[in-house]
Amino acid sequence: LSSLPTWPYPALVAHRCAGVLAPENTLAGLAQAARHHVGMVEFDAKLSADDVPFLLHDDDVDRTSNGHGPAASLSYARIAALDAGSWFGAAFSNERMPTLEAVAQRCIELKLCANVEIKPCPGREVVTGVRVAQAVQVLWKDAPVPPLLSSFSEEALDAARRTAPELARGVLFGRPPGDWLARAQRLACVSVHFDHTQIDRLLIDAIRAAGFRTLAYTVNDAARARTLREWGVDAICTDRIDTVSL
Ligand code: G3P
Ligand code: MG
Repeated sequence: LSSLPTWPYPALVAHRCAGVLAPENTLAGLAQAARHHVGMVEFDAKLSADDVPFLLHDDDVDRTSNGHGPAASLSYARIAALDAGSWFGAAFSNERMPTLEAVAQRCIELKLCANVEIKPCPGREVVTGVRVAQAVQVLWKDAPVPPLLSSFSEEALDAARRTAPELARGVLFGRPPGDWLARAQRLACVSVHFDHTQIDRLLIDAIRAAGFRTLAYTVNDAARARTLREWGVDAICTDRIDTVSL
């Protein structure tokens, strides 16, 4: 058995900042996470057309704002003018898609650990991995616990590795493919992240035995979260920070 790498992160992670309690990937979400005493938040980072790292899940802004079009075609000044909260609730009409810089400041103030998921716009994998890793190095340089980087894009994660080899990395899968070990080793990851509906205990055992920490998403049932923890899963990423506790 390989020994497991250091893992300074809390076991419960708020998905897209605060799951169901606030519009996803916003500063309002960070406040909700802190209010519910969740120690860690996950969020999705990508680049605007002018290469500003900011938070957005989708390739385009349509679902989560009053704007239209691909994020890769909009400057950050245009993105910052959009309302990223009203789609979720009228009380959130002042929310914006925040820069990674603003998110870092707030996470540090609120003592929230961060899982920065690098979510590049199509075709922008390498530049996004480089720019997000550079920003994380600078923004969290004095933080007690630096962020965990992750991505479904192995190209982006590899670019982040070359840019900031000292930052911890996790590779994201739906169901881990047959060659998950080679992929995780190539990227020098500390963790393997997977969809909890596509995993079984044997595979979790194999990942841990190979020396990787594990993160399961998106676990919205409290009993399932506890079972995964009993199976040795290190981190549970949930939308339900109001009902899931460990
Ligand atoms: O990082 C875990 C989870 O966020 C991955 O899925 O689509 O919500 O970014 P998604
Ligand atoms: Mg994500």
